[in-house]
Amino acid sequence: MNPVENEIIQLTADLNRHNYNYYILDAPVISDFEFDQLLRKLQDLEREHPEYMQPDSPTQRVGGSVTKKFETVKHIYPMLSLGNTYSEEELLEFDARVRGLVGETVEYACELKYDGLAISILYEDGVMRRAVTRGDGAQGDDVTANVRTIPTVPLRLQGDDYPSRFEVRGEILMPFARFEALNREREEIGEPPFANPRNAASGTLKLQESAEVARRGLDFRLYYVMGDNLPCQTHYDSILQLKKWGFRIPDVLQKAQNINEVIDFMHFWDTERKKLNFPIDGIVIKVNRFALQQSLGLTAKNPRWAIAYKFKAEKQSTPLLSVDYQVGRTGIVTPVANLAPVPLAGTIVKRATLHNADVMAALDIREGDCLFVEKGGEIIPKIVGVDLDKRLPDARPVQFVTHCPECGTPLVRNEDEAGTFCPNDLHCPPQIKGRLEHFIGRKAMNLDSLGEGKVEILYENGLVKNIADFYQLTYSQLFGIEKKFSGEDGKPDRIVSFREKTVENILAGIDQSRSVPFDRVLFAIGIRYVGETTAKKLARHFKNIDALSAATKEELMEVNDVGDRVADSIIAFFNNTENLEIVVRLQQAGLQFTLTETEEAGVSNVLAGKSIVVSGVFSIPRDDIKKMIEQYGGKNVSSISKNTSYVLAGEKMGPEKRKKAESLGIPIISETEFYALIGQTTEG
Ligand code: IVH
Repeated sequence: MNPVENEIIQLTADLNRHNYNYYILDAPVISDFEFDQLLRKLQDLEREHPEYMQPDSPTQRVGGSVTKKFETVKHIYPMLSLGNTYSEEELLEFDARVRGLVGETVEYACELKYDGLAISILYEDGVMRRAVTRGDGAQGDDVTANVRTIPTVPLRLQGDDYPSRFEVRGEILMPFARFEALNREREEIGEPPFANPRNAASGTLKLQESAEVARRGLDFRLYYVMGDNLPCQTHYDSILQLKKWGFRIPDVLQKAQNINEVIDFMHFWDTERKKLNFPIDGIVIKVNRFALQQSLGLTAKNPRWAIAYKFKAEKQSTPLLSVDYQVGRTGIVTPVANLAPVPLAGTIVKRATLHNADVMAALDIREGDCLFVEKGGEIIPKIVGVDLDKRLPDARPVQFVTHCPECGTPLVRNEDEAGTFCPNDLHCPPQIKGRLEHFIGRKAMNLDSLGEGKVEILYENGLVKNIADFYQLTYSQLFGIEKKFSGEDGKPDRIVSFREKTVENILAGIDQSRSVPFDRVLFAIGIRYVGETTAKKLARHFKNIDALSAATKEELMEVNDVGDRVADSIIAFFNNTENLEIVVRLQQAGLQFTLTETEEAGVSNVLAGKSIVVSGVFSIPRDDIKKMIEQYGGKNVSSISKNTSYVLAGEKMGPEKRKKAESLGIPIISETEFYALIGQTTEG
């Protein structure tokens, strides 16, 4: 065999084993750094020799491929859904029916009902071949490239006793933390947030860019296996068998000897679910023995051997006191109902969002109404309707505000958009703050020495009114200003004051940001609808701000992902003289408005998400090293903490720093290792 092919096969197997140790066993045996280096090596080899790439290559986890159109695929076995109930009584009836058909005692397997979307994953000869959504049950969409990015979906199985062909079924879901982070990001760039983790998971799985799917952090919970010649007699054993083949199986899976034990399980999880970090909407019980499942059979849509019990959301009716209109950082105006305080599922609810004008109109809320509020698995209360029995005669509809409550500008609503917004983006106070905060954000200019609180102080002191003002700040302006933040919910007050060190850090951070690459500057200046990815594509395509600002709508739309709405927004941005002035001032301040040669050559983002501490003396100036870290998407941090990804050590690195890195288990890498990591040679 060709030595390169050999090496690719070996690296693939090693990396898959390390992935398994990390994600399935929670017991990694190499550092993240070593892993990243091996992965990079494999990526390079595969790039040079795509013909040797293995079907289970771990490089597919990172994503990168683009799916033009999802192929429709017929399921080998149809994907059924479950009958469901909200009542304990119906669970008893289900049990009675089952026992009536198959005998006196029946053992059940109890599971959680994951709130995501169903997926069927085909394995052939131990290799993950295909992943298909449920679709209409008979056929679904082939989303293989996207599902491969989910680290708990094995690409190659362990052991040698698996059937040559079988399917694993389960749920793709989005953990709460990822859901919240995603929505925060979306709101930052003016995209509508997802209503719940299920919608977010399903939207993500249908993305055409698998690298973005990888970034969003979907997860997988398996709940069924289908195939001939499975070596098990029961559902429970089949799941344990999957564990032996290398799958991560759910933490919660329990046998119940009778329906009373099922009901105990259900009650337990109805309260305990609040502690889970992923969404569930009920429990599922299955007749455990496959032979009994067989004899019970199916109805037209559902198996007779399983049922889902769905948790009820708690519901209360409470008077509406008033409606506030909040202007967000992107100008979107959100109506919020102030309610007479009412206890609901463990907390007192006083406010609940009404989302937007459409939702408000659909609910047909009138002054003095009593509203039904519901709290399901999610923590956020939801208004689900009006208590019409309590409606006062002649109650007038609540009208959506017509003018911005912050700046008085008439509000705007675009056709085919749900949101109402304040168009005064350059002068409406929350929007000014929003733009400033967006500008300093981690993915934009990464001015972490400033932070939200400090930006607010600068704004309130009249020192920064727009993003170009940052580059004119001086030491004497900053030194000595302070602000007291009153503590919420009994927390002590917090005073932020600008002392010597703070001011020096702020100014140094601002200075450093002059080397932030063009694509991030483009994202940072806050053109509506231009998110991080679009900014990258625009930067690559137009190469500098002059070409971009001169582009026609047609030219803009040549860029992948840029549609009508984005193109119009870019044109509007550069037609506004105030924006142009800001851009000119930023150019004069020395920010990057052109792609560098290396960037043009297609530098990667290998250091994305990595925090790196640089210490010691190097063969090139330390600032150049720091610049490279930025260029490759990483972040320079000054002190070592548990969140540090690497310490990049030059000669004469301080012994204290080394000790600290070692005690926290942070990998220490040399200059040469650093070049290897970013794929450059030392001579280069
Ligand atoms: S078993 C034939 N188990 O709930 C049995 N489904 O209609 C197939 N779901 O679309 C389903 N958690 O996506 C099963 N532990 C679990 C589940 C589960 C969530 C979903 C599944 C299906 C829907 C039921």
